[in-house]
Amino acid sequence: MTDTPVAFVTGAAQGIGLAAAERLARDGFRVVAMDRNAERLEPAVAELCAAGLNVKAAVADVCQRAEVVAVIAAEPRVDAMVCAAGIYNDATFLDLDETRFRQMLEVNVMGTFIPAQEAARRMQAGGRIVTISSRGALGGTRFAHYVSSKAAVIGLTRAMAMELRPLQIAVNSVAPGFTDTPMTRSAPPEMFAAWEQLEPSGKAASPADIADAIAFLASPATRFITGQTLFVDGGKSLGGLSI
Ligand SMILES: NC(=O)c1ccc[n+]([C@@H]2O[C@H](COP(=O)([O-])OP(=O)(O)OC[C@H]3O[C@@H](n4cnc5c(N)ncnc54)[C@H](O)[C@@H]3O)[C@@H](O)[C@H]2O)c1
Repeated sequence: MTDTPVAFVTGAAQGIGLAAAERLARDGFRVVAMDRNAERLEPAVAELCAAGLNVKAAVADVCQRAEVVAVIAAEPRVDAMVCAAGIYNDATFLDLDETRFRQMLEVNVMGTFIPAQEAARRMQAGGRIVTISSRGALGGTRFAHYVSSKAAVIGLTRAMAMELRPLQIAVNSVAPGFTDTPMTRSAPPEMFAAWEQLEPSGKAASPADIADAIAFLASPATRFITGQTLFVDGGKSLGGLSI
């Protein structure tokens, strides 16, 4: 087995996944950057490689087990899996239909379960799984399907942590608040600005802010932390306003 630890990051073509891939590579991992979007993934990874980082692009859909298995099987070891692939769209509760709801659960929940399970099957003691939930798991308007999917990710994280603790594999979740990524930038600019004003700081987090927390939970230093959800949201999840 080689000495270089290997981390897999899903949803790594852009946004939080890409920032996590860069950060983990800077921390000394060989990083396998996974995404279903080859057109965005390949130039993003080429840029990281040009900066001297040990990153490989692997095109795979996280909902397709055979694709995920093939990517993981190609590496000599599995030390960390970061499940950052996800989708978001909005709809009022009264308008939401089963197709949109099921698609949200498919990508955000099944697309976390499959890579996490396949990684865990290959991990040794000391392995780390980091899921990405959301402050939205606490609730919100116009995205009941997203809220449900991210609350499920927190439940899945806790359940995985309990079953994997005898194997000394730690499983934790990072719950970002509003973050400046292509996902949130796909909204009209006036909506992005309005969302930002709802943040305690008046600002969106950067993908690097979220990657800092992911890197912490993916590091060997955190062996006594498992089953936890770390909110990285500038304090918005604390609720209420106070002086
Ligand atoms: N941006 C935010 O404000 C925010 C807040 C809370 C949580 N999150 C979560 O963080 C994660 C990353 O979000 P982001 O803002 O960087 O999103 P993004 O849309 O910018 O990037 C998501 C990436 O996931 C990939 N992806 C989607 N479905 C996939 C699939 N089936 N297989 C493989 N790749 C797939 C996309 O191609 C894309 O590259 C998501 O799980 C999201 O729900 C984001």
